[in-house]
Amino acid sequence: MGRASASGKVILLGEHAVVYGHSAVVVGIENGAEAHAEHSQTSSIAVGTQTTTSDRQTLELAFAALLHCLSAGPCRAQVHLHVPAGCGLGASAAAGVAVARAVLDLLAPAPGAESPARRSAVLDAAHAWERVFHGNPSGIDATAATLGGCFVFSRAAGPSSVAVAQPLRLAVAVADAPASTRTMVDRVARLRASEPERIDRVLARIGELALAGCTALQRGSPADLGALMNENHASLQQLTVSTTRLDDACGWARAAGALGAKLTGSGGGGCVIALCDQSSERILQAWRSHGLACFDMILRPSAH
Ligand code: MEV
Repeated sequence: MGRASASGKVILLGEHAVVYGHSAVVVGIENGAEAHAEHSQTSSIAVGTQTTTSDRQTLELAFAALLHCLSAGPCRAQVHLHVPAGCGLGASAAAGVAVARAVLDLLAPAPGAESPARRSAVLDAAHAWERVFHGNPSGIDATAATLGGCFVFSRAAGPSSVAVAQPLRLAVAVADAPASTRTMVDRVARLRASEPERIDRVLARIGELALAGCTALQRGSPADLGALMNENHASLQQLTVSTTRLDDACGWARAAGALGAKLTGSGGGGCVIALCDQSSERILQAWRSHGLACFDMILRPSAH
């Protein structure tokens, strides 16, 4: 039996703009998904514990694409998600990376740190899986699921790790119903086709916010980072990917002392994140008083 795990993610700054070649900053959520794989006469895949937003046929097509990419024979895989699906926390990419790792672990066990060659095989397979779900993803989710930690990403340059100067506390709330990334990416594409100049300006500005966010992270300036997150949320509103519930959840977090708050992921539903000033307690309490499921996480300075 092969077994493995992979990270979920929150996008701190830059979603949607990253699809058009701009930069985005992402933070991994440890242990977003686990997978087991075993040899079998025919291939099958099951996702337990959370509802997925995809139908069975899409899941099976994605699994077939992943196995083809790894030149693997028929396998049975079982996935266990630790982040909710369709909420912007990178569940599908975490599942794809965990399954790719579990299949490779079955075919060629290699204990210890993942080699660069192995990592690149995992990423290729996870990209093939993600393309089935999302059409033309930027690749940031699969990269975050593979690497974890905090990095800046663009399609052309790939990932580059960000040396975070001080620990930062983020609060995350599931603020609205799950939404489809493909639908939201298509929505922005249609908006851009109808108003190319205005939307390209918004996308370029989001890319600038992401790069400014890297500087704020490296300098240890949480107040600056929070202000960038607020502006990024306003830009995402202009892209029409926010919802009233996401806007409300950001407002409640700011009123409870957050330095900044924004939707995270593709929008249309799903999660918001808030940057906490020291403690997350008041923000989490505010969200819970409105019935939202939420948690907090710490972004630590890391050596990688
Ligand atoms: C989804 O987590 C992030 C988007 O930018 C899509 C993508 O990058 O593929 C909305």
